[in-house]
Amino acid sequence: MLFKYSSLLALATFFSSIAADAKHNPVKDALSNFFFSVAAGKPFDPPDKDVTHATFDEAGNIPLRPLRQVGTYKGISYNGFQLVSLPAGGLIAQSGNNVALYGTQGATNLGRPNLETADNPFDLYEFYFGCVLLGTDGPIFDSPQPCTLTIKSERQDGSQFSQQFRSAPDSPLQARMFRAIVDKNFTGIRVVRFETLPDLQVVTIFDNFAYTLNTK
Ligand SMILES: *[C@@H]1O[C@H](CO)[C@@H](O)[C@H](O)[C@H]1NC(C)=O
Repeated sequence: MLFKYSSLLALATFFSSIAADAKHNPVKDALSNFFFSVAAGKPFDPPDKDVTHATFDEAGNIPLRPLRQVGTYKGISYNGFQLVSLPAGGLIAQSGNNVALYGTQGATNLGRPNLETADNPFDLYEFYFGCVLLGTDGPIFDSPQPCTLTIKSERQDGSQFSQQFRSAPDSPLQARMFRAIVDKNFTGIRVVRFETLPDLQVVTIFDNFAYTLNTK
C-alpha cells in the first residue's frame, strides 16, 4: 500500500514537471495531455467528428404523467423510452433535470427499448444510467438499485456487438448515475437494444448519451 502511494506520488510529480515545461515538446505535450485527461476523467477520446450530446434538457419540466415518449431526438429514435424530469426520487440526473427511462412494469413499459436510426448510422461513445425501484403506490420511484445493463448493437452490415455494465448505487437515497463508456466497436450502428436485469419493478434511467451521426 505504502509503495503504491509513493509511486503514485512520484508519477504525479513526474507528470506535473513534464506539464510545467511541456511548452514546445509535442511528445511531452501528448504525455501530459494524456495524464490530465485521465486525471480529469474525460468521457472519451474526442473523435475527429461532431459529437451529439443528448441530455434531454431542452424540453423544460416534464411530469411523470401524462406519459411522454422521447420519440426522435437529436437524430435518433429513442424507441420505448419515456421522457421525465427528476427528482422523482432515487437518482440524480447527470445534467439538468430531464432524463430518459424505461421500466418493465405498469405504465412505464413502452416496449423493447432501443436507439435506432433510419438513415445515418451512428457511433456511440458513452451514456449515464442507473436503476431505481418502481414505488408501490403509483408511478413514484424509490430507492436506487444495483442492476446489470446489456446493450446489443447491430450495424448496417448485420454485424453485432454486445457489452455489459454493472451499476451499483453510491448512496442508498440519492445516488449518482453510472458512466457507461462504450466499446470502440459500437460504430456504424443502425440499432442498439437495451436490457436490464433484474427487471421486476425496476426502472432504468438514462442521461447524456454521446454519439456521432455519420451522414452519408
Ligand atoms: C469490442 O471492443 C472491445 C474493446 O473496446 C474488445 O474488448 C472486444 O473484444 C470487441 N468485441 C468484438 C466482438 O470485437
